[in-house]
Amino acid sequence: MRRTKALILGGALMLAGSAAAQDTREPVVFAAATQGTPAERAAQMLAQMSQDEKLTLLKGYFGTDFPPSKFEAPEEARMGSAGYVPGIPRLGIPPQWQADAGIGVATQGGSPVKRARTALPSGLATAATWDPQLAFAGGAMIGAEARADGFNVLLGGSVNLMREPRNGRNFEYGGEDPLLAGTMVGAQIAGVQSNRIISTVKHFAVNDQETDRGIGNSVVEEGALRMSDLLAFELAIEQGNPGSVMCAYNRVGGVYACENRFLLTDVLRSDWGFPGYVMSDWGAVHSTQPAIEAGLDQESGFGLQRADWFAADKLKNAMTAGLAQATIDRAVISVLHSMFAHGLIDNPVTADRAIDFAAHRAVSQADAEAAIVLLKNEGDLLPLAGGGGRIAVIGGHADKGVLSGGGSSQVYPEGTNAVPGIAPTSWPGPVVYYPSSPLDELRKLLPEATIEFADGTDPAAAARLAAASDIAIVFGTQWASESIDVKMQLDGEQDALVDAIAAANKNTVVVLQTGGPVLMPWADKVPAILEAWYPGRMGGAAIARVLTGAVDPSGHLPATFPRSLDQLPYPGEPRKGDVVYDEGATVGYKWFDRQELEPLFPFGHGLSYNKLEILQLSVTPAGEGLIATVHVTNTTQRPATDVLQVYVGGGGEWEAPKRLGGFAKVTLAPDESREVAIPIDPRLLALWQTDRPGWTRPAGTYTVWAAYDAGEMIDWVPIELSASHLPASWDPGDTPLASASAVKPWEWESQCRWWLSREDGRSLRASIGGGEGVLIMTVADPAFLAWSQSNQPRFDLVFNGDEQQRVRAEGWVSHVGNETGMLGFELSPEALRRFGGATSLEIRREGRAFFTQPLAATPSTAALEGCVPPPPGPDSDSE
Ligand code: BGC
Repeated sequence: MRRTKALILGGALMLAGSAAAQDTREPVVFAAATQGTPAERAAQMLAQMSQDEKLTLLKGYFGTDFPPSKFEAPEEARMGSAGYVPGIPRLGIPPQWQADAGIGVATQGGSPVKRARTALPSGLATAATWDPQLAFAGGAMIGAEARADGFNVLLGGSVNLMREPRNGRNFEYGGEDPLLAGTMVGAQIAGVQSNRIISTVKHFAVNDQETDRGIGNSVVEEGALRMSDLLAFELAIEQGNPGSVMCAYNRVGGVYACENRFLLTDVLRSDWGFPGYVMSDWGAVHSTQPAIEAGLDQESGFGLQRADWFAADKLKNAMTAGLAQATIDRAVISVLHSMFAHGLIDNPVTADRAIDFAAHRAVSQADAEAAIVLLKNEGDLLPLAGGGGRIAVIGGHADKGVLSGGGSSQVYPEGTNAVPGIAPTSWPGPVVYYPSSPLDELRKLLPEATIEFADGTDPAAAARLAAASDIAIVFGTQWASESIDVKMQLDGEQDALVDAIAAANKNTVVVLQTGGPVLMPWADKVPAILEAWYPGRMGGAAIARVLTGAVDPSGHLPATFPRSLDQLPYPGEPRKGDVVYDEGATVGYKWFDRQELEPLFPFGHGLSYNKLEILQLSVTPAGEGLIATVHVTNTTQRPATDVLQVYVGGGGEWEAPKRLGGFAKVTLAPDESREVAIPIDPRLLALWQTDRPGWTRPAGTYTVWAAYDAGEMIDWVPIELSASHLPASWDPGDTPLASASAVKPWEWESQCRWWLSREDGRSLRASIGGGEGVLIMTVADPAFLAWSQSNQPRFDLVFNGDEQQRVRAEGWVSHVGNETGMLGFELSPEALRRFGGATSLEIRREGRAFFTQPLAATPSTAALEGCVPPPPGPDSDSE
């Protein structure tokens, strides 16, 4: 028998035995049969638990064998996973099965067998969409796969602020602005949890670099911290309502994050009212009594770490030394509360369920297409013209696939690593390329062009190919990973390669796949640059579609791209030991503004082929905050998508001349004009002053700007505001601001997609389009969802109320929560054609209409003609 298995089973037997010895009562009520609020149900369970049962919930095991410390994972853990916390069968409390899940269901690098799952673009890429609905859809996709694998606690929702552009984990996070990062990551968490499982916001807090992460000490003055890193967490928690928070490896203000009372109790619980539990990062605990008393509830990853601070005997010894029973009970209650609140008890997970990979790839592709940022496009070189001509594609393994970021969030693709063997092949590697080749996809989209490839290892040969071509497209890569920081540049000799190609062909396009900002010494020499981040499992298709104009680029930078290292607050290498952030809340564009530095590309920047025009801004007070109304118009001949950004300025004491105050991603039909209301949270108009905790807004004249990016203000309005003070616990709750900010769910469209919504909202809350010719709807009908679990949903789409125009569509339900699920159809070319011209659509199941929608504003048939459902790939079948 495996040693560790014996250990855990032994523990379980011991628990049963000691439970019998200490507590002869039979359980009065099983977990699933408890009633009331999560807090009441947790209390009912606690009352029935023996001390050993309580302590079981406070210690997690690593879910994968770890030979360096001779650890074998518990057999009950899910294969290759991050963690496992045993359940308590006597009471009907299930185990907690934990997986990393930043971009999909990850497998630990040390696992000999890798789980092949759908990878989204990087977290930073999703932030670059500026589209919370896409972040939600991505989270829902991850949660669906996790549930199908039997995971009920996901370690995803990563929101550390980008203070250090060389942080090797920036690709996992949401960028440099607290509002953007908090909103996007919050939406992803909500999406994950719509599957009735727990998501974890991390790494709390100020884990903003990897250098020295295990002991480094992040120092930020409290007021500044509240307005920067902590505000990003506050917003993500408010909007995503995660079941758990993961405390970080590093120290904050001299105290380890996982025993930091200020963070875990004063801020998280007292100020923000967080009702869930705090788990540690893997090996981030350094004590027993100080940690649990500071607010840590669960130590993670025993086996990867051997210290075992929350082992039952250590906790009991601590109690002998004065640790209060109430503190143990608080930790147990916190864990149980989230298990009840987020469905772990009422909707238990089961493993080995089928996954609809084709549907999930459509979600990933939609995310990637909206994330790619067109940084530069001189002379409208892009989109690539259709028709003949010679195109050189160079470097970046573009013939094989697209790059992904490394470390614990690594998702292994269905299909194989397209470029195996690149160092490092073990931690923090392997380097993984997803099998979605930009070269192949370009050839599909431009069948008449002659497209040749040079791998770039011989720059002279690549330059000769470029010189002989009409256009050269160079792919530049920067690999980043957990546990390392990186140089802010392309890897290896790629800058020289770009130089050589730019010298050979004036029509050079650079496509970047990077973890975060990189320097571009060649930027002035090339007319077009595209930032594709780590674009996920369908990245090659997304890049090709943006390059050819099948999709209009609509991504915007979630972080400033500096011109040179010396523009950074700390140009030197990331520091060790005390990392004092003297710039305080002046992070990213705020630093550039305050120092009057002109970056290479500003925060919020992103071009498109069809731009919206901001006409006018008006501002009105709303509750404690403001509503900015941006009047915008589309004067182009195609649907146009843009991100409207609203910045606010408050004068003298602010950390910077302006802050992002709100944003909205909108799509307008040709000739359409619209007034878009964008709420501004009052905390973004205020300062945190430590001598008066809470959000203080001095009376005065404030400024609101409407903008395309942080560098280009289009219209502005001054507004007089009275003095106000909001408590630390303030959140938008049900104020008018909250309802104004409730974005109409799933409102999204582009040339090949359409959306529907139904006013009464009972069965179909709303809808989004997925990949080409895919119609996805969010369904809030428990009866239908229950039915769909055991039936292949088949539908008839009836156009214009005309029986003759009936088209059969096969549906899939991509995830099923208690009350909501996502229902998708692949639309056949025939259905698409009819859809394009229709004035009404009815969806029928078994002859009964359950959804009818007038399509008065349906895009023209012409706009839909380019849409063809993706051909089934060789690996598109469900598992
Ligand atoms: C990472 C966490 C991750 C955990 C479990 C740690 O090394 O910092 O983000 O969730 O491992 O894999």
